[in-house]
Amino acid sequence: MNNEFQLEMKNIRKSYGNIKSLRGVDLQIKPGEVLGLVGDNGAGKSTLMKVLSGVVIPDEGEFYYEGKKVKVDSPRTAKNLHIETVFQDLSLCDTLSVANNMFLGREPTKFVGGIIDQKVLHAKSREQLNRLGIDISSTRLAVENMSGGQRQAVAIARAMLFQPKVLILDEPTAALGVKEVDMVLKLIKNVKEKGVSVVLITHRLQDLFEVCDRIMVLNEGKCIDDRPMDQYTLETLIKSIMGSPERTNAS
Ligand SMILES: Nc1ncnc2c1ncn2[C@@H]1O[C@H](COP(=O)(O)OP(=O)(O)O)[C@@H](O)[C@H]1O
Ligand SMILES: [Mg+2]
Repeated sequence: MNNEFQLEMKNIRKSYGNIKSLRGVDLQIKPGEVLGLVGDNGAGKSTLMKVLSGVVIPDEGEFYYEGKKVKVDSPRTAKNLHIETVFQDLSLCDTLSVANNMFLGREPTKFVGGIIDQKVLHAKSREQLNRLGIDISSTRLAVENMSGGQRQAVAIARAMLFQPKVLILDEPTAALGVKEVDMVLKLIKNVKEKGVSVVLITHRLQDLFEVCDRIMVLNEGKCIDDRPMDQYTLETLIKSIMGSPERTNAS
């Protein structure tokens, strides 16, 4: 297999009873590439993302990671391959602080008694926020008091602590205000700068033009278009999503 790719999926098929959610999808992503994944409701985006994160096991299909054939048959396997996912619900604990959310379940402890070392916890969280250019005044704030954009940023910062090679983001800018959207898009660019491959699922087409290197369009469980960003216009992208890719306009 081609090892210029961080990750490759081949001929992914998944049915639920009579419903063919994925009908032979191929996906490739290079290191540091931002791939936009779009398609109408029911196109198969979430199913494909779940296959990629080991949550759904496909009926058929192959995975290659850095050129080597691998199995992704559980969320644990995906994590071991450094594939991290920020699901739409973000999985944050509202009442806990930024730092506690970022290190949930693997807090730094002091030697004696395994007590959480709060000083180290907050210092490491601060370091991580700074590294990603995330503007949050205190790591002691409870996430329930934060804006949607800040919560998204905390969830991404948490995922980045696992040092992913592939980061999957599901609708990270849905329901955010303009300034907040800009903040999250800037964060995605920072993640890309670190060499991480990003799969971005979004309904906000203007976001794709801001951050993507490539866009893949799914339609009824099939990939019907996959081109570098600069070969799309908003118009041709919309046509593609509606099921009639217009390749003649793009050259
Ligand atoms: N767990 C499931 N059980 C039955 N059908 C499902 C399940 N998950 C997805 N589907 C079906 O698969 C198709 C693709 O769904 P989905 O991947 O959620 O699309 P998208 O995220 O692009 O809107 C839809 O027809 C959907 O109803
Ligand atoms: Mg979906």
